[in-house]
Amino acid sequence: MFPKNAWYVACTPAEIDEKPLGRTVCGERVVFFRGPEGQAVGLDDWCPHRGAPLSLGRVVEGKLVCGYHGLEMGCEGKAIAMLVSACAASRR
Ligand code: FES
Repeated sequence: MFPKNAWYVACTPAEIDEKPLGRTVCGERVVFFRGPEGQAVGLDDWCPHRGAPLSLGRVVEGKLVCGYHGLEMGCEGKAIAMLVSACAASRR
């Protein structure tokens, strides 16, 4: 158990570069990345689509893109776009 009303060091600013950085803080998986203005962002390291670790994805123009199916997460922790494959689009 960890006190939740305290500050913990998760990483240094220099560790957050062009790739997502996954860390476990107080037993919870967190992913850090740089947003569109270079701000540090921390989100749950869990994709809301199928639960893949977002830290295994990539950062594109300040958005965190899941490496599994391409869900795009914004800095607020909300899904903002999802890739649709040509195969799936042709079934519509
Ligand atoms: S698990 Fe992340 S997009 Fe599907």
